[in-house]
Amino acid sequence: MHIGSQLTELAPFEAAYNKVAELTAQLRADGHQIKRLDLGGGLGIPYARSNEAPPLPTDYGALIQRTVGHLGCEIEIEPGRLISGNAGLMVSKVIYVKSGEDREFLILDGAMNDLIRPAMYEAWHDIVPVIEPAPGATPAKYDIVGPVCESGDTFAKGREMPSVKPDDLVAFRSAGAYGAVMASEYNSRPLIPEVLVDGDQFAVIRARPTYEEMIARDTVPEWLD
Ligand SMILES: Cc1ncc(COP(=O)(O)O)c(C=O)c1O
Repeated sequence: MHIGSQLTELAPFEAAYNKVAELTAQLRADGHQIKRLDLGGGLGIPYARSNEAPPLPTDYGALIQRTVGHLGCEIEIEPGRLISGNAGLMVSKVIYVKSGEDREFLILDGAMNDLIRPAMYEAWHDIVPVIEPAPGATPAKYDIVGPVCESGDTFAKGREMPSVKPDDLVAFRSAGAYGAVMASEYNSRPLIPEVLVDGDQFAVIRARPTYEEMIARDTVPEWLD
């Protein structure tokens, strides 16, 4: 079973796992052999510093023990976001700061095709300058957008953050889950590369394709003259 994603309370898991325990008992009473339970994923992560911390994996483990531990089954779980979400950042460069009548736009070289969660779910990602500003630096408020021709290419509206300028790098936090894997080449933007970092070591583990490589993937069928 899998009941949903980004769950920040244990109560829905508890209700669901109790049902799994009941069903297992019923199926066994009917003569079925139940040896393994797959309990799905779904445990949430904090996306903003202001968020309350979701339940700890150890509390989740204790809940599993309490609800289905007595059944003597092998237990499988499928956590996704919990493992990779806060292990990844999306780094983007400021292209331009545009002053409108009543707001400032921060235009980045990253776009909705690289990280679609804000456009798709109005998801929040903390966005911070890569080089920490000096204490007391001027704060700013931006509509943070990408360069794609879509009104949905908006990462955040009225976001307060330290002031930045063209060529500065910013990092989107918590982009390790449902980030690069949901990226696309929309608008002929070559797929975002992935870089693995460990301490002071790094390696490009999926290079950005060239335009030639992108185009070479298309083929023209023989029957089309
Ligand atoms: C069947 C199943 N298992 C596991 C997951 C992973 O969920 P999460 O990343 O919330 O742990 C999903 C995602 O929706 C799913 O559909």
